Amino acid sequence: MNNKAIGVFDSGIGGLTVYQALKKRLPQENIVYLGDTARLPYGSKSAQTIIRFSMENAVFLMEKQVKIIVVACNSASSYAVTHLQQSIEIPVIGVIEPGAEAVAKLNVRRIGVIGTTATIESNAYKNSILDKKPDAQIISQACPLFVPLVEEGWINHPATDLIIKEYLLPLKNKNIGALVLGCTHYPVLNPAIGRILGSEICLIDSAKTTADKVFSILSSLGWLNQPDHTGIDTFYVTDFPERFKKVGEIFLKRSIDEVICI
Ligand code: DGL
Repeated sequence: MNNKAIGVFDSGIGGLTVYQALKKRLPQENIVYLGDTARLPYGSKSAQTIIRFSMENAVFLMEKQVKIIVVACNSASSYAVTHLQQSIEIPVIGVIEPGAEAVAKLNVRRIGVIGTTATIESNAYKNSILDKKPDAQIISQACPLFVPLVEEGWINHPATDLIIKEYLLPLKNKNIGALVLGCTHYPVLNPAIGRILGSEICLIDSAKTTADKVFSILSSLGWLNQPDHTGIDTFYVTDFPERFKKVGEIFLKRSIDEVICI
């Protein structure tokens, strides 16, 4: 198992925030990344469709002989992780549990959760946080306009600031102490959100805690790659590799060599 790759899938580009966290935590690991760019967004789709797409993505990664599957997409994690865990023999991990664990550890009771419409409607973060911290008060807000703004590269743009204010000032006015960024794209808006909400609200990004979890699963199984190996990554998409490369470079702040369309 040790030199097999970590498989990561997302509806498209956003999962690169999770990829990047994995790279930082597990530089010795090879990563196979699949972005389902032909069928994104997942965040506006039904549970049934998200589960079907997720199963297909997992089958593709299994064919690449990966040793673990990371569901980087919050919308897919909200609905499909349990289904995948029941039907696949290798470990499958989503981003909801690690994000919920991270926020539940904080000394705050009023917690904001933002995500796509699908993620918020699933109540996945809410339920998972309440499991760990029954006295928490969760204030959820779908922010569907954030994804297109990020994909347009409007990271520092007055229109983005205006929309952040529209979605998030009501949460700030409810005195939240922490905000879970429950979507792959939102960590890119971290500086703008922080600027508008102020430094007293702690922003939780599931990517880092998910990478920590992957590290602990692989190390407990004895499946980590050799420490002196430099991980090799392969990027697959289901459509439009040129766009993935262009927008992906905004996410990673570096160039991507090759993107393969399947
Ligand atoms: N990757 C999705 C998520 O984290 C955002 C983009 C989409 O809606 O497909 O929920």
